[in-house]
Amino acid sequence: MRAVVAASALIVVGIAIVVTHEGWQAAEAFDRDPMAEAVVDVRGNLRVPGDYRTSYQFLGSWAIAAGSGGGSKEIHVVFASPEAADAYRKDGHFPDGTVLVKEVYGATTGEMTTGSVSRADNLKGWFVMVKGDASRFPDNALWGDGWGWSWFDTTNPRETTSTNYKFNCKSCHVPAQATDWVYVDGYPVLKR
Ligand code: HEC
Repeated sequence: MRAVVAASALIVVGIAIVVTHEGWQAAEAFDRDPMAEAVVDVRGNLRVPGDYRTSYQFLGSWAIAAGSGGGSKEIHVVFASPEAADAYRKDGHFPDGTVLVKEVYGATTGEMTTGSVSRADNLKGWFVMVKGDASRFPDNALWGDGWGWSWFDTTNPRETTSTNYKFNCKSCHVPAQATDWVYVDGYPVLKR
């Protein structure tokens, strides 16, 4: 019995590896852009890039005030795929394949030698945007206005819980429409 259970577990692991592998291959179809291919599959579904903390560029961070009592309730930390910031500084546009990742942390506030300080604590998840022509994925409601858009819970960086960017993202980004839907004022490295 135990052997049967072990064998079934092996089969399940085997299937999972095959599926993951195929997903990876499919992803290569995204215009052969080395950054985007790791993030977008053939159907236009996104995932959180596995290497963003080491190979992406830090853009900036946001502290979300906790209301009364001071301190922050959330800290947002934003990264961009390599060369996106350089390109933006040159002509004010994010090139196709640009990936933006926003980490959302719950914050903890305490007294430190610098004063009353909030720091990133528990990671709640990620917002990911990928620059590209939405007509490539006409059936995918997570693409539009020149970007693919998705939120990921910490428990599943490979599968979004977002269903439609128009409802899940767009209205909140309207104030940044003139700067390609991105809140560029928060990112010192994008200053031209
Ligand atoms: C409640 C409003 C709101 C919603 C909903 C929202 N955003 Fe944002 N987003 C913002 C604001 C404001 C910022 C910048 C300030 C901050 O992080 O608080 C931002 C920043 C970002 C950033 C960092 C780059 C930038 O634009 O500055 C990404 C990436 C992002 N959002 C993606 C998404 C995606 C994808 C969705 C939908 C799944 C989404 N957002 C939904 C308001 C929102």
